[in-house]
Amino acid sequence: MPPFDSTLPLRADPYRFIRRTCDAVGSDAFETRLMLERTLCLTGVEAARFFYDRDIFTRAGAAPRFLRRTLFGEGGVQGLDGAVHEHRKGLFLALMGPGRTDALTERAVAGIARRLEEPGEIVLQDAFERILTRAVCDWAGVPLGPHEKGETARMLSRLFEHAGSVDLRQVVARIARHRADRWAAKLVEAVRDGTHSPPRGNALAVVASWRDTTGALLPPKVAAVELLNILRPFVAISAYLTFAAHALATRPEERAALRSDPDRLFGFVQEVRRTYPFFPALVARARVRTVWREHAIPAGRLVAFDIWGTNRDPAAWDDPDAFRPVRFRDWQGDPFTLIPQGGGAHATNHRCPGEWVTEDLMLAATRTLLDRVDWSALPPQDLSLDMRDLPGLPRDRLRLST
Ligand code: HEM
Repeated sequence: MPPFDSTLPLRADPYRFIRRTCDAVGSDAFETRLMLERTLCLTGVEAARFFYDRDIFTRAGAAPRFLRRTLFGEGGVQGLDGAVHEHRKGLFLALMGPGRTDALTERAVAGIARRLEEPGEIVLQDAFERILTRAVCDWAGVPLGPHEKGETARMLSRLFEHAGSVDLRQVVARIARHRADRWAAKLVEAVRDGTHSPPRGNALAVVASWRDTTGALLPPKVAAVELLNILRPFVAISAYLTFAAHALATRPEERAALRSDPDRLFGFVQEVRRTYPFFPALVARARVRTVWREHAIPAGRLVAFDIWGTNRDPAAWDDPDAFRPVRFRDWQGDPFTLIPQGGGAHATNHRCPGEWVTEDLMLAATRTLLDRVDWSALPPQDLSLDMRDLPGLPRDRLRLST
Protein backbone atom coordinates (compact mmCIF):
# COMPACT_ATOMS: atom_id res chain seq x y z
CA MET A 1 0.00 0.00 0.00
CA PRO A 2 1.39 3.48 -0.83
CA PRO A 3 1.56 5.83 2.18
CA PHE A 4 -1.56 7.92 2.94
CA ASP A 5 0.56 11.06 2.50
CA SER A 6 3.83 10.75 0.56
CA THR A 7 5.33 14.19 1.24
CA LEU A 8 7.97 12.94 3.69
CA PRO A 9 8.97 9.72 1.86
CA LEU A 10 9.21 11.72 -1.38
CA ARG A 11 11.49 14.26 0.28
CA ALA A 12 13.59 11.48 1.77
CA ASP A 13 14.13 9.80 -1.60
CA PRO A 14 12.99 12.28 -4.27
CA TYR A 15 14.34 10.46 -7.33
CA ARG A 16 13.42 6.86 -6.57
CA PHE A 17 10.24 7.09 -4.49
CA ILE A 18 7.63 7.02 -7.30
CA ARG A 19 9.28 4.17 -9.21
CA ARG A 20 9.86 2.11 -6.06
CA THR A 21 6.29 2.53 -4.91
CA CYS A 22 4.97 1.67 -8.39
CA ASP A 23 7.13 -1.48 -8.38
CA ALA A 24 5.82 -2.38 -4.93
CA VAL A 25 2.16 -2.05 -6.00
CA GLY A 26 2.80 -3.68 -9.42
CA SER A 27 1.43 -0.78 -11.48
CA ASP A 28 2.64 2.35 -13.29
CA ALA A 29 0.37 4.51 -11.09
CA PHE A 30 -0.70 4.89 -7.48
CA GLU A 31 -2.86 7.26 -5.50
CA THR A 32 -1.56 9.14 -2.49
CA ARG A 33 -1.45 12.66 -1.09
CA LEU A 34 1.24 15.33 -1.40
CA MET A 35 1.07 18.06 1.26
CA LEU A 36 -2.28 16.42 2.10
CA GLU A 37 -3.66 17.02 -1.42
CA ARG A 38 -4.92 13.93 -3.29
CA THR A 39 -2.42 13.12 -6.05
CA LEU A 40 -2.00 10.44 -8.67
CA CYS A 41 1.65 9.45 -9.22
CA LEU A 42 2.63 8.07 -12.63
CA THR A 43 5.78 6.56 -14.11
CA GLY A 44 6.98 5.18 -17.45
CA VAL A 45 6.93 5.91 -21.16
CA GLU A 46 3.22 5.14 -21.66
CA ALA A 47 2.35 7.43 -18.76
CA ALA A 48 4.57 10.13 -20.33
CA ARG A 49 2.44 10.15 -23.48
CA PHE A 50 -0.67 10.58 -21.29
CA PHE A 51 0.90 13.28 -19.07
CA TYR A 52 1.92 15.40 -22.08
CA ASP A 53 -1.60 15.38 -23.61
CA ARG A 54 -2.46 19.09 -23.58
CA ASP A 55 -6.20 18.40 -23.89
CA ILE A 56 -6.11 16.50 -20.61
CA PHE A 57 -3.61 18.33 -18.40
CA THR A 58 -2.89 21.93 -17.48
CA ARG A 59 0.15 23.41 -15.72
CA ALA A 60 -1.80 26.37 -14.34
CA GLY A 61 -1.78 26.27 -10.54
CA ALA A 62 0.04 22.92 -10.44
CA ALA A 63 3.60 23.72 -9.28
CA PRO A 64 3.91 23.89 -5.48
CA ARG A 65 4.24 27.36 -4.06
CA PHE A 66 7.76 26.77 -2.66
CA LEU A 67 9.02 26.11 -6.22
CA ARG A 68 7.19 29.08 -7.75
CA ARG A 69 8.79 31.29 -5.10
CA THR A 70 12.30 30.01 -5.77
CA LEU A 71 13.02 28.03 -8.92
CA PHE A 72 10.40 29.24 -11.42
CA GLY A 73 9.27 32.67 -10.25
CA GLU A 74 5.70 33.91 -10.81
CA GLY A 75 4.09 34.56 -14.20
CA GLY A 76 6.62 32.75 -16.40
CA VAL A 77 6.17 30.30 -19.26
CA GLN A 78 6.08 27.23 -16.98
CA GLY A 79 2.57 28.02 -15.71
CA LEU A 80 0.98 28.95 -19.09
CA ASP A 81 -1.19 26.77 -21.34
CA GLY A 82 -2.44 26.58 -24.93
CA ALA A 83 -1.99 29.46 -27.38
CA VAL A 84 -0.60 31.84 -24.75
CA HIS A 85 2.03 29.25 -23.80
CA GLU A 86 2.98 28.61 -27.44
CA HIS A 87 3.40 32.31 -28.08
CA ARG A 88 5.61 32.83 -25.00
CA LYS A 89 7.56 29.68 -25.82
CA GLY A 90 8.41 31.33 -29.14
CA LEU A 91 10.57 33.79 -27.19
CA PHE A 92 12.77 30.96 -25.89
CA LEU A 93 12.90 29.07 -29.16
CA ALA A 94 13.90 32.25 -31.01
CA LEU A 95 16.86 32.64 -28.64
CA MET A 96 17.81 29.06 -27.76
CA GLY A 97 16.70 27.01 -30.79
CA PRO A 98 19.13 24.71 -32.68
CA GLY A 99 22.21 26.55 -34.01
CA ARG A 100 21.38 29.81 -32.19
CA THR A 101 23.66 29.40 -29.21
CA ASP A 102 27.01 28.41 -30.78
CA ALA A 103 28.64 31.66 -29.60
CA LEU A 104 27.40 31.00 -26.06
CA THR A 105 28.76 27.45 -26.03
CA GLU A 106 32.12 28.66 -27.37
CA ARG A 107 32.38 31.35 -24.70
CA ALA A 108 31.60 28.87 -21.92
CA VAL A 109 34.02 26.19 -23.13
CA ALA A 110 36.80 28.72 -23.62
CA GLY A 111 36.24 29.82 -20.00
CA ILE A 112 36.46 26.22 -18.79
CA ALA A 113 39.64 25.56 -20.78
CA ARG A 114 41.24 28.72 -19.35
CA ARG A 115 40.30 27.78 -15.80
CA LEU A 116 41.80 24.30 -16.19
CA GLU A 117 45.12 25.90 -17.14
CA GLU A 118 45.40 27.77 -13.82
CA PRO A 119 47.45 25.82 -11.29
CA GLY A 120 45.93 24.86 -7.93
CA GLU A 121 42.82 23.12 -6.65
CA ILE A 122 39.41 23.63 -8.27
CA VAL A 123 35.99 22.80 -6.88
CA LEU A 124 34.49 22.01 -10.26
CA GLN A 125 30.82 22.71 -9.50
CA ASP A 126 31.62 26.17 -8.11
CA ALA A 127 34.01 26.97 -10.96
CA PHE A 128 31.43 25.92 -13.57
CA GLU A 129 28.76 28.10 -11.95
CA ARG A 130 31.00 31.18 -12.13
CA ILE A 131 32.18 30.47 -15.68
CA LEU A 132 28.67 29.84 -17.01
CA THR A 133 27.33 32.97 -15.27
CA ARG A 134 29.96 35.12 -16.96
CA ALA A 135 29.38 33.44 -20.35
CA VAL A 136 25.58 33.72 -20.33
CA CYS A 137 25.54 37.31 -19.00
CA ASP A 138 28.04 38.45 -21.67
CA TRP A 139 26.09 36.62 -24.38
CA ALA A 140 22.72 37.94 -23.19
CA GLY A 141 23.87 41.58 -22.97
CA VAL A 142 23.62 41.66 -19.17
CA PRO A 143 26.34 43.99 -17.81
CA LEU A 144 28.42 42.57 -14.94
CA GLY A 145 31.02 44.64 -13.10
CA PRO A 146 34.42 43.06 -12.37
CA HIS A 147 33.34 42.10 -8.82
CA GLU A 148 29.79 41.05 -9.67
CA LYS A 149 30.54 37.71 -11.31
CA GLY A 150 30.88 35.68 -8.10
CA GLU A 151 27.92 37.43 -6.44
CA THR A 152 25.64 36.94 -9.47
CA ALA A 153 26.73 33.31 -9.83
CA ARG A 154 25.80 32.71 -6.17
CA MET A 155 22.43 34.42 -6.59
CA LEU A 156 21.54 32.41 -9.72
CA SER A 157 22.79 29.08 -8.35
CA ARG A 158 20.80 29.47 -5.13
CA LEU A 159 17.64 29.53 -7.26
CA PHE A 160 18.22 25.96 -8.45
CA GLU A 161 20.52 24.48 -5.80
CA HIS A 162 18.35 25.36 -2.79
CA ALA A 163 14.86 25.40 -4.33
CA GLY A 164 13.91 21.88 -3.22
CA SER A 165 15.32 22.21 0.32
CA VAL A 166 13.10 22.26 3.37
CA ASP A 167 15.69 23.69 5.78
CA LEU A 168 17.21 27.15 6.04
CA ARG A 169 18.36 26.91 2.42
CA GLN A 170 14.71 27.35 1.33
CA VAL A 171 14.80 30.80 2.97
CA VAL A 172 18.12 31.53 1.24
CA ALA A 173 16.56 30.54 -2.12
CA ARG A 174 13.52 32.79 -1.50
CA ILE A 175 15.75 35.75 -0.68
CA ALA A 176 17.80 35.02 -3.83
CA ARG A 177 14.60 34.93 -5.93
CA HIS A 178 13.46 38.26 -4.51
CA ARG A 179 16.84 39.87 -5.29
CA ALA A 180 17.10 38.25 -8.71
CA ASP A 181 13.59 39.37 -9.74
CA ARG A 182 14.38 42.97 -8.75
CA TRP A 183 17.79 42.90 -10.45
CA ALA A 184 16.35 41.49 -13.70
CA ALA A 185 13.35 43.89 -13.70
CA LYS A 186 15.76 46.84 -13.42
CA LEU A 187 17.71 45.55 -16.42
CA VAL A 188 14.49 45.28 -18.46
CA GLU A 189 13.44 48.79 -17.46
CA ALA A 190 16.91 50.16 -18.31
CA VAL A 191 16.58 48.75 -21.84
CA ARG A 192 13.07 50.12 -22.23
CA ASP A 193 13.99 53.63 -21.07
CA GLY A 194 17.18 53.65 -23.16
CA THR A 195 19.69 53.85 -20.27
CA HIS A 196 21.14 50.49 -21.34
CA SER A 197 21.34 49.49 -25.01
CA PRO A 198 22.31 45.86 -25.58
CA PRO A 199 22.90 44.94 -29.24
CA ARG A 200 19.64 44.20 -31.08
CA GLY A 201 18.73 40.54 -31.16
CA ASN A 202 20.52 39.51 -28.00
CA ALA A 203 18.60 37.92 -25.15
CA LEU A 204 18.09 40.95 -22.91
CA ALA A 205 16.94 43.09 -25.86
CA VAL A 206 14.55 40.39 -27.12
CA VAL A 207 13.00 39.76 -23.68
CA ALA A 208 12.60 43.50 -23.01
CA SER A 209 10.79 44.03 -26.33
CA TRP A 210 8.74 40.79 -26.42
CA ARG A 211 5.01 41.39 -26.77
CA ASP A 212 2.29 39.06 -25.51
CA THR A 213 -0.65 37.79 -27.61
CA THR A 214 -2.51 41.10 -27.11
CA GLY A 215 0.47 43.08 -28.48
CA ALA A 216 1.44 44.53 -25.07
CA LEU A 217 4.98 44.47 -23.70
CA LEU A 218 5.39 41.95 -20.89
CA PRO A 219 5.04 43.58 -17.44
CA PRO A 220 8.60 44.22 -16.10
CA LYS A 221 8.14 41.59 -13.36
CA VAL A 222 7.18 38.93 -15.90
CA ALA A 223 9.94 39.93 -18.33
CA ALA A 224 12.34 39.65 -15.37
CA VAL A 225 11.15 36.10 -14.66
CA GLU A 226 11.65 35.16 -18.32
CA LEU A 227 15.14 36.71 -18.43
CA LEU A 228 15.97 34.65 -15.35
CA ASN A 229 14.41 31.63 -17.14
CA ILE A 230 17.38 31.91 -19.53
CA LEU A 231 20.19 32.89 -17.14
CA ARG A 232 19.37 30.54 -14.23
CA PRO A 233 18.99 27.28 -16.18
CA PHE A 234 22.07 28.01 -18.26
CA VAL A 235 24.05 28.27 -15.01
CA ALA A 236 22.30 25.04 -13.91
CA ILE A 237 24.02 23.20 -16.77
CA SER A 238 26.99 23.35 -14.37
CA ALA A 239 25.42 20.38 -12.56
CA TYR A 240 25.37 18.31 -15.75
CA LEU A 241 29.00 19.25 -16.41
CA THR A 242 29.87 18.11 -12.89
CA PHE A 243 27.94 14.88 -13.53
CA ALA A 244 29.89 14.34 -16.78
CA ALA A 245 33.12 14.93 -14.84
CA HIS A 246 31.90 12.47 -12.18
CA ALA A 247 31.28 9.82 -14.86
CA LEU A 248 34.82 10.41 -16.19
CA ALA A 249 36.30 10.33 -12.67
CA THR A 250 34.58 7.12 -11.61
CA ARG A 251 34.74 5.14 -14.89
CA PRO A 252 38.33 4.71 -16.15
CA GLU A 253 37.09 2.20 -18.75
CA GLU A 254 34.80 4.89 -20.15
CA ARG A 255 37.70 7.37 -20.45
CA ALA A 256 39.67 4.81 -22.44
CA ALA A 257 36.69 3.99 -24.65
CA LEU A 258 36.05 7.70 -25.35
CA ARG A 259 39.70 8.23 -26.29
CA SER A 260 39.75 5.35 -28.72
CA ASP A 261 36.30 6.07 -30.19
CA PRO A 262 35.35 9.79 -30.32
CA ASP A 263 31.92 8.84 -31.78
CA ARG A 264 31.05 7.46 -28.36
CA LEU A 265 30.86 10.98 -26.93
CA PHE A 266 27.25 11.60 -28.03
CA GLY A 267 26.07 8.43 -26.27
CA PHE A 268 28.17 9.28 -23.20
CA VAL A 269 26.48 12.67 -22.84
CA GLN A 270 23.00 11.21 -23.33
CA GLU A 271 23.75 8.51 -20.79
CA VAL A 272 24.82 11.17 -18.25
CA ARG A 273 21.54 13.02 -18.90
CA ARG A 274 19.53 9.80 -18.63
CA THR A 275 21.05 8.41 -15.44
CA TYR A 276 22.22 11.26 -13.20
CA PRO A 277 19.86 12.86 -10.64
CA PHE A 278 18.71 16.31 -11.78
CA PHE A 279 14.92 16.78 -11.98
CA PRO A 280 12.98 14.03 -10.18
CA ALA A 281 9.37 14.71 -11.22
CA LEU A 282 6.86 17.13 -12.75
CA VAL A 283 3.32 18.10 -11.74
CA ALA A 284 0.16 19.04 -13.65
CA ARG A 285 -3.60 19.15 -13.02
CA ALA A 286 -6.31 17.32 -14.92
CA ARG A 287 -8.35 19.89 -16.84
CA VAL A 288 -11.13 17.36 -17.57
CA ARG A 289 -12.43 14.18 -15.98
CA THR A 290 -10.36 11.29 -17.26
CA VAL A 291 -9.08 7.85 -16.41
CA TRP A 292 -5.67 6.13 -16.31
CA ARG A 293 -5.64 2.34 -15.92
CA GLU A 294 -8.03 1.65 -13.05
CA HIS A 295 -7.73 5.20 -11.63
CA ALA A 296 -10.57 7.66 -12.18
CA ILE A 297 -9.14 11.20 -12.32
CA PRO A 298 -11.58 14.05 -11.61
CA ALA A 299 -11.00 17.49 -13.16
CA GLY A 300 -8.57 19.47 -10.97
CA ARG A 301 -6.75 16.39 -9.59
CA LEU A 302 -3.00 16.83 -9.11
CA VAL A 303 -0.79 14.40 -11.02
CA ALA A 304 2.94 13.87 -10.32
CA PHE A 305 4.91 12.35 -13.15
CA ASP A 306 8.20 10.55 -12.55
CA ILE A 307 11.14 11.75 -14.70
CA TRP A 308 13.81 9.64 -13.01
CA GLY A 309 11.91 6.34 -13.32
CA THR A 310 10.80 7.03 -16.88
CA ASN A 311 14.43 7.54 -17.95
CA ARG A 312 15.00 4.03 -16.57
CA ASP A 313 11.80 2.40 -17.79
CA PRO A 314 12.68 -1.23 -18.70
CA ALA A 315 10.01 -1.07 -21.43
CA ALA A 316 12.22 1.46 -23.26
CA TRP A 317 15.77 0.67 -22.11
CA ASP A 318 17.61 -2.67 -21.88
CA ASP A 319 19.33 -3.09 -18.53
CA PRO A 320 18.18 0.44 -17.63
CA ASP A 321 20.42 0.97 -14.59
CA ALA A 322 23.63 0.23 -16.54
CA PHE A 323 25.69 3.17 -17.87
CA ARG A 324 26.01 2.17 -21.50
CA PRO A 325 26.67 4.92 -24.09
CA VAL A 326 26.47 2.48 -27.02
CA ARG A 327 22.72 2.19 -26.47
CA PHE A 328 22.41 5.53 -28.28
CA ARG A 329 24.05 4.26 -31.50
CA ASP A 330 20.72 3.31 -33.09
CA TRP A 331 18.51 5.41 -30.93
CA GLN A 332 15.48 6.74 -32.78
CA GLY A 333 14.84 9.72 -30.52
CA ASP A 334 11.31 8.90 -29.28
CA PRO A 335 10.30 12.15 -27.48
CA PHE A 336 8.85 10.26 -24.50
CA THR A 337 11.74 7.94 -23.59
CA LEU A 338 14.71 10.21 -22.83
CA ILE A 339 13.09 12.97 -20.80
CA PRO A 340 15.57 14.52 -18.33
CA GLN A 341 14.45 17.92 -19.68
CA GLY A 342 10.81 17.04 -20.25
CA GLY A 343 9.03 15.16 -23.04
CA GLY A 344 6.85 15.74 -26.10
CA ALA A 345 7.37 18.63 -28.53
CA HIS A 346 9.47 21.68 -27.68
CA ALA A 347 7.11 24.21 -29.31
CA THR A 348 3.77 22.98 -27.99
CA ASN A 349 4.56 21.08 -24.77
CA HIS A 350 6.57 22.32 -21.80
CA ARG A 351 9.68 20.49 -22.97
CA CYS A 352 12.84 22.44 -22.15
CA PRO A 353 13.94 24.95 -24.83
CA GLY A 354 17.46 24.74 -23.41
CA GLU A 355 17.93 21.12 -24.42
CA TRP A 356 20.04 21.87 -27.52
CA VAL A 357 22.46 24.20 -25.76
CA THR A 358 22.69 21.77 -22.84
CA GLU A 359 23.72 18.94 -25.16
CA ASP A 360 26.13 21.12 -27.15
CA LEU A 361 27.84 22.44 -24.05
CA MET A 362 28.06 18.99 -22.47
CA LEU A 363 29.64 17.58 -25.64
CA ALA A 364 32.24 20.34 -25.92
CA ALA A 365 33.01 20.53 -22.19
CA THR A 366 33.35 16.76 -21.82
CA ARG A 367 35.88 16.70 -24.65
CA THR A 368 37.85 19.47 -22.89
CA LEU A 369 37.69 17.69 -19.53
CA LEU A 370 38.78 14.42 -21.09
CA ASP A 371 41.78 16.01 -22.84
CA ARG A 372 42.98 18.40 -20.14
CA VAL A 373 42.48 16.70 -16.77
CA ASP A 374 44.67 14.02 -15.22
CA TRP A 375 41.84 11.84 -13.94
CA SER A 376 44.18 9.41 -12.23
CA ALA A 377 45.35 12.07 -9.74
CA LEU A 378 42.20 13.42 -8.05
CA PRO A 379 42.54 14.77 -4.50
CA PRO A 380 40.94 12.51 -1.84
CA GLN A 381 37.20 13.33 -1.62
CA ASP A 382 33.68 11.95 -1.23
CA LEU A 383 32.45 11.17 -4.75
CA SER A 384 29.09 9.76 -3.65
CA LEU A 385 26.00 11.54 -5.01
CA ASP A 386 23.65 13.19 -2.53
CA MET A 387 20.44 11.52 -3.68
CA ARG A 388 18.34 13.54 -1.21
CA ASP A 389 19.34 16.83 -2.80
CA LEU A 390 18.13 18.53 -5.99
CA PRO A 391 20.29 18.22 -8.06
CA GLY A 392 22.01 15.23 -6.44
CA LEU A 393 25.58 16.54 -6.79
CA PRO A 394 28.73 14.71 -5.61
CA ARG A 395 29.01 15.53 -1.89
CA ASP A 396 32.38 17.33 -2.27
CA ARG A 397 31.25 19.05 -5.52
CA LEU A 398 34.12 17.34 -7.38
CA ARG A 399 37.57 18.62 -6.61
CA LEU A 400 40.49 18.58 -9.03
CA SER A 401 44.10 19.66 -8.80
CA THR A 402 45.56 21.23 -11.90
C1 HEM B 1 20.76 21.67 -16.66
C2 HEM B 1 20.15 21.57 -17.78
C3 HEM B 1 18.65 21.64 -17.80
C4 HEM B 1 17.75 20.78 -17.25
C5 HEM B 1 18.02 19.51 -16.44
C6 HEM B 1 16.43 21.29 -17.58
C7 HEM B 1 15.25 20.66 -17.25
C8 HEM B 1 14.01 21.12 -17.59
C9 HEM B 1 12.77 20.45 -17.28
C10 HEM B 1 12.63 19.10 -16.56
C11 HEM B 1 11.77 21.23 -17.71
C12 HEM B 1 10.28 20.98 -17.52
C13 HEM B 1 9.67 20.21 -18.65
C14 HEM B 1 8.16 20.11 -18.45
O1 HEM B 1 7.58 20.84 -17.63
O2 HEM B 1 7.52 19.30 -19.14
C15 HEM B 1 12.36 22.41 -18.29
C16 HEM B 1 11.65 23.45 -18.82
C17 HEM B 1 12.25 24.63 -19.15
N1 HEM B 1 13.59 24.89 -19.29
FE1 HEM B 1 15.08 23.65 -18.91
N2 HEM B 1 16.57 22.45 -18.28
C18 HEM B 1 17.91 22.71 -18.46
C19 HEM B 1 18.49 23.73 -19.17
C20 HEM B 1 17.80 24.80 -19.62
C21 HEM B 1 18.39 25.92 -20.29
C22 HEM B 1 19.85 26.08 -20.66
C23 HEM B 1 17.39 26.82 -20.50
C24 HEM B 1 17.57 28.16 -21.14
C25 HEM B 1 16.81 28.60 -22.03
C26 HEM B 1 16.15 26.24 -19.99
C27 HEM B 1 14.92 26.85 -19.96
C28 HEM B 1 13.75 26.21 -19.66
C29 HEM B 1 12.43 26.83 -19.74
C30 HEM B 1 12.16 28.27 -20.10
C31 HEM B 1 11.49 25.84 -19.44
C32 HEM B 1 9.97 25.99 -19.41
C33 HEM B 1 9.43 25.60 -20.76
C34 HEM B 1 7.92 25.60 -20.83
O3 HEM B 1 7.28 25.72 -19.78
O4 HEM B 1 7.40 25.51 -21.95
N3 HEM B 1 16.44 25.03 -19.47
N4 HEM B 1 13.74 22.32 -18.22
